[in-house]
Amino acid sequence: MKQLKTAMLGLGSVHKNLISILEEKKAALAAQYGLDFKIIAISDSSGIAVNEDGYDMAAVLEHKKSGGRVSGLSGYQGTRQQHILNELALDLIFEATPVDLKTGGEALDICRSALIRGVSVVMANKGPVVQALSELENLAEKSGAGIGYSATVCGGLPVLNIARRDMVCGTITKISGVFNGTSNFIFDALAKGMSFDDALREAQNVGAAEADPALDIGGWDTAFKLLIIANSVLGADITLDNIAVDGIEDITAEMLIKEQEKGNIIKLVASAEEGRYSVRPEVLPMDSFLGSCNGWEMGVEIHSDIYGIMYHKLYEKEPIPTAASMMRDAVNIFRHR
Ligand SMILES: NC(=O)c1ccc[n+]([C@@H]2O[C@H](COP(=O)([O-])OP(=O)(O)OC[C@H]3O[C@@H](n4cnc5c(N)ncnc54)[C@H](OP(=O)(O)O)[C@@H]3O)[C@@H](O)[C@H]2O)c1
Repeated sequence: MKQLKTAMLGLGSVHKNLISILEEKKAALAAQYGLDFKIIAISDSSGIAVNEDGYDMAAVLEHKKSGGRVSGLSGYQGTRQQHILNELALDLIFEATPVDLKTGGEALDICRSALIRGVSVVMANKGPVVQALSELENLAEKSGAGIGYSATVCGGLPVLNIARRDMVCGTITKISGVFNGTSNFIFDALAKGMSFDDALREAQNVGAAEADPALDIGGWDTAFKLLIIANSVLGADITLDNIAVDGIEDITAEMLIKEQEKGNIIKLVASAEEGRYSVRPEVLPMDSFLGSCNGWEMGVEIHSDIYGIMYHKLYEKEPIPTAASMMRDAVNIFRHR
């Protein structure tokens, strides 16, 4: 049995689900992969706590769910998270703190230092990946650490894995997708007669919108996902400047209803084809694959030279599939070591 000394950064929706999954699948992880995740460091916005013997994560989950913070746990070390982590003997860091898309934030520094010293990193946070994917991959290669970030693109929809693992020697000629549940929500609500502001509020109430809704509405959340796809599986080396981004702010109830009467629907579509990258609202037949990605669904359509045209759709209401993808990334890193 390999015991993985693990740090879990962030204790929000994603990691709460990951804790439950690791508990629920403990026996399967041991029996099928010989892996045991021992969480020796945890953090939230109050700082970081360390217990070299491993935390009772069910108790930590209860503590968080009842409004407790990491600062109230035994082993609390204060807020110098990166410093504490650098001093710890770790195998793995699970990173699910809030996204900082402008700089990558402290998460990027933490991932960098971890990878330099051979500590594997699995991220749900897009920030470090958007800012520095190739640098992080190079660091991982040099030190032999593993790096996983499949959860950064459409949560549990295994877009990156399909392209990497299941399309050996294939060339993707076009990829397009509906990657943003908030836009789906807003379009549905507008078509039902809600105002744009009420529709957005509703999306926030049901937990579909990012903390900063401008990311969803402006098309940026989708563009960041497209950027990660392009740079990690399409062999591109692009920045956000290479993606033509149009948000959904100008879509009105009248436009949606007019299209509905013709059997169409408007979706926020990300697309990459022949070196052109875009995110924009598109009119699609309602019964097309992407046109039928509604509510909590995300979908991707992958066109290729030898693997045909693939359609993958995921229904993800709570980030359980996202958390499961983090576990999968970690298992894939350590299963053969
Ligand atoms: N939710 C999803 O569906 C989903 C899907 C894919 C990717 N992601 C990404 O995964 C990440 C986490 O998402 P989430 O939904 O779990 O977020 P969340 O519910 O807002 O939780 C964020 C957690 O990070 C903690 N935190 C804040 N600042 C911190 C800091 N400086 N150091 C350590 N921890 C800090 C927060 O602490 P407190 O508990 O004290 O507030 C909270 O526990 C985000 O980057 C998000 O974009 C989310």
